[in-house]
Amino acid sequence: MSLTLQQLNVEKIKQDFPILQRKINGKRLVYVDNAATTQKPSSVLKAMDRYYLFFNANVHRSPNTLGEEATIAYENAHKAVAQFINARSWQEVIFTKNTTEGMNLLAYAYGMNFLKQGDEIILSEMEHHSSLVPWQQIAKRTGAKVKYIPLLDDGTLDMKAYQKLLSSKTKIVCVCHVSNALGTINDVKTIAKYAHEQQAICIVDGAQSVPHMKIDVQDLDCDFLLFSGHKMLGPTGIGVLVGKKDLLEKMPPFLYGGDMISEVTYQESTWNELPWKFEAGTPPIAEAVGLKVAIDYLQKIGMEQIHAHEQELIHYAQEVFSTLKDVTMYGPEKKAGILSFTVKGIHPHDLASILDRHGVMIRGGHHCAMPLMKKLGITGTARASFYLYNTKEDIDKIKEAILDAQRIFK
Ligand code: ALA
Repeated sequence: MSLTLQQLNVEKIKQDFPILQRKINGKRLVYVDNAATTQKPSSVLKAMDRYYLFFNANVHRSPNTLGEEATIAYENAHKAVAQFINARSWQEVIFTKNTTEGMNLLAYAYGMNFLKQGDEIILSEMEHHSSLVPWQQIAKRTGAKVKYIPLLDDGTLDMKAYQKLLSSKTKIVCVCHVSNALGTINDVKTIAKYAHEQQAICIVDGAQSVPHMKIDVQDLDCDFLLFSGHKMLGPTGIGVLVGKKDLLEKMPPFLYGGDMISEVTYQESTWNELPWKFEAGTPPIAEAVGLKVAIDYLQKIGMEQIHAHEQELIHYAQEVFSTLKDVTMYGPEKKAGILSFTVKGIHPHDLASILDRHGVMIRGGHHCAMPLMKKLGITGTARASFYLYNTKEDIDKIKEAILDAQRIFK
């Protein structure tokens, strides 16, 4: 497939990101912390600016020109997201604060209402704290039990063990599409299919996949998909929960307040239609405007092209890193553009500080996956995560910086 794809014009792309012109410690900025958050193109920043400068108003409330323009822009953002991931309808697209809030929405509105003593929730051993912690808490409150799909030695999920874990007790399966710590790409379509055979629902944490590859939520056939705007060139403060309409209708609201109601008396309230039933209070309007433009930007470049570019980068990085002494890489060979590694004798935080001196921004630590780190027998890793504006030269810079760190720590 990659043969027919056009190479990205990265030099041109970089010009759209003013921050990438920055120098850090006198060095060209090499931003490879994209799994944590991504940089924003000028078009996103300008669109948000334009909203505040020219049509700032609240949505769904004010029958005036500004209110109507803001409402249209806000609703159009839902439509853009729906089209981006091929949702059945834009009414199935709910804006949250981030992936974590989306998971909490599901934990409270679905878990607390539909789980009972003895039910089982299946997570995987590579989940982020944003899945682990909410479901652990909901399990404690409902009497449900959390079980984990184990990891194979190569950093992929043990699908045979998963099949064995499934039973009529399984009510929820919740897995990440791409591991933020290992880069593993999970076969969530098959995971959802097996869950459905047991009448369980399947939740997919798409925080690290939706920004980087073409996603068709109908093809995956998961019941819920979650992701964050800031990891896909959009602003912070907006996330997305996409869910099947029948489930969203069955669930009570998560947050109560303005805009999520249909009728309110002093005694009772009824709920607004989807998606507003789950969007209480003044929503992230400017952020929605920014997210739509981020999606336009990604689509103009092409998600297949972005994925192919990141695949080229990760292969190159694996090749380069395999020549380095005392460097261990984690996760499978076939993976997303996320490279977790350790350097013998250097703590990941120290390594990150030394790389910073070279202008290279990486994350070091447990990556919000403490149990996974424990299982791997380490306290953390250093992580370089790539996006459309990274190049092979960036990887060469990381290599130089690692060699420098090794010299310092010798
Ligand atoms: N989940 C984000 C990361 O992996 C914050 O860095």
